[in-house]
Amino acid sequence: MTADASHQPTAPSPASSSSLTAPGASSPSLLPRAARVFVAGHRGLVGSAVARRLAADGHEVLTRSRDQLDLRDAARTEAFLRDARPDAVVLAAAKVGGIMANSTSPVQFLEDNLRIQLSVIAGAHAARVPRLLFLGSSCIYPKHAEQPIREESLLTGPLEPTNEAYAIAKIAGITQVQSYRRQYGASYISAMPTNLYGPGDNFDLATSHVLPALVRRFHEARVSGAPEVVLWGTGTPRREFLHVDDVAAACALLLERYDGDGPVNIGCGEDLPISELAEVVRQVTGYEGSVVWDTSKPDGTPRKLLDVSRLTSLGFKPAVALRDGIAATYEWWLAQQRTG
Ligand SMILES: NC(=O)c1ccc[n+]([C@@H]2O[C@H](COP(=O)([O-])OP(=O)(O)OC[C@H]3O[C@@H](n4cnc5c(N)ncnc54)[C@H](OP(=O)(O)O)[C@@H]3O)[C@@H](O)[C@H]2O)c1
Repeated sequence: MTADASHQPTAPSPASSSSLTAPGASSPSLLPRAARVFVAGHRGLVGSAVARRLAADGHEVLTRSRDQLDLRDAARTEAFLRDARPDAVVLAAAKVGGIMANSTSPVQFLEDNLRIQLSVIAGAHAARVPRLLFLGSSCIYPKHAEQPIREESLLTGPLEPTNEAYAIAKIAGITQVQSYRRQYGASYISAMPTNLYGPGDNFDLATSHVLPALVRRFHEARVSGAPEVVLWGTGTPRREFLHVDDVAAACALLLERYDGDGPVNIGCGEDLPISELAEVVRQVTGYEGSVVWDTSKPDGTPRKLLDVSRLTSLGFKPAVALRDGIAATYEWWLAQQRTG
């Protein structure tokens, strides 16, 4: 079984390739050299970055587009995995969306994700795949979890209602991974990234996350000569952002070095007010008008920051500075615009 040649990963940016300083590098890696790794969801923001990183590390990346293999189809997914016989699977395929999509289609967010996870994790076990990394998200944690959010706060309180169906599917995935570990001794692990951004991000204002939305709005304001950009809320809520090349580096590190039962948070350990983020984006896009905060609009949670001590104890250090990462993402998006 060969990789999907039309989507071969390219090398990561130089910044990401120097981001790991794993201690105990002399201890044997849990991932063989030149391993065959199936990256499920390789066209997505996270999966594409993971595929680039693993390829740059000398691994053989196996991919299947959704047209070739719908991962909700358990029988076909298991047959693919039995045939491909990868050394590891990275599960970065998911039905993902913003508040609006989550609120209007909770059935799809629950069922598609449960089905993808059942197919891929159970299929990997049936096909005797020795290693698997399941990716969830920080929305699995209780709405009022103590900050910074530790992995131990999982299942200690009510979830944010707007994405509860998605979060519960992801929590089921964590439990599935833990159950395969406990019942069968499988070396399967899970990781929960913070807010991510980078090349491959979604810039559609109807469905995008805050960072690409800010980039697009400031860019369009500059191009149209708009005197001001109006943003929702007070700008005071604090959020954490990590570049996808850093999340990919963290995934590679976890595949090599982590074999624990609990999920591992992936973040940079630092947050900033949305107003500061907006100022960085304003400067990067070259917009010179003013920023107006519409304080009649809701702010959302005051702070969302992950405790990343479990990850940093393995030697992880993010390599991409926020301003540089935003500038590179802006360049990527402009290039996409030019090529249509
Ligand atoms: N983006 C973030 O800020 C962020 C933050 C924290 C955690 N995460 C987590 O990271 C994971 C990936 O997120 P992402 O942002 O990379 O999402 P994404 O860009 O939407 O990519 C998801 C990928 O999954 C594929 N997929 C979805 N349903 C499929 C199916 N039934 N069969 C085969 N492939 C399917 C999609 O294929 P198509 O290309 O064909 O649609 C796409 O390639 C998710 O678990 C998410 O919770 C993301």
